[in-house]
Amino acid sequence: MSKSVLIINASPRANGHISQLLAMAREALVAEGCKVTVFAVAGAGYRHCTGCMVCRSKGDCVLPADDGQRLAALLREHDRIIVGTPCYWGNIPGLLKGLFDRVVYAMMDDNRSAWPQPLMRGKKAAVIATSTTPWPWNRLFRQTSGAVGAVKEIFRYSGIRIVGSLQKGNTHRHPGLNSHDIRTLRKLVKRLLR
Ligand SMILES: Cc1cc2nc3c(=O)[nH]c(=O)nc-3n(C[C@H](O)[C@H](O)[C@H](O)COP(=O)(O)O)c2cc1C
Repeated sequence: MSKSVLIINASPRANGHISQLLAMAREALVAEGCKVTVFAVAGAGYRHCTGCMVCRSKGDCVLPADDGQRLAALLREHDRIIVGTPCYWGNIPGLLKGLFDRVVYAMMDDNRSAWPQPLMRGKKAAVIATSTTPWPWNRLFRQTSGAVGAVKEIFRYSGIRIVGSLQKGNTHRHPGLNSHDIRTLRKLVKRLLR
């Protein structure tokens, strides 16, 4: 059965490494017959979470409708997710974190018991992360691995299983994609669709 895949692009660079890798992933997914939706974080309009916690009991956000609620609906609708994120300060960019703060109510339920109940069980995800820090330091010093870890932390409580990641370092000195990146991406897409 064909899968629906949500691609979240957290890079503000339209032709950067993340955007190029996600464009390739999209192409591969479409060729596999998937329905693909791309959510561009850089173009998103949303208010920051106010921390009111009303969404936890209401199951919905009380802020006026914006791209925060739109992302929550998209996460619910799709069974596979790809997060493409540059490493910013060893983490995901603030714009993406701000959006994840807005969708907690769609991801987990901690209203009924002290232990959060995951609301996205059965979904699978892959993470693509880039950094200027070269391999192996991008992984050892929690640069791309820091960004991947941040997504893992959010998805763990949502019940979304991360099937793998592509972590590309050295983007400053060696810009552009190489054959290893492309091979890794193809394998990652295949694993995501299993
Ligand atoms: C605000 C900001 C913070 C960054 N922080 C880090 C960092 O902590 N470690 C690192 O290796 N690279 C860092 N970088 C570099 C980016 O991760 C790198 O340029 C990445 O390849 C961008 O991906 P893109 O080409 O897909 O946009 C940072 C870049 C910016 C703009």
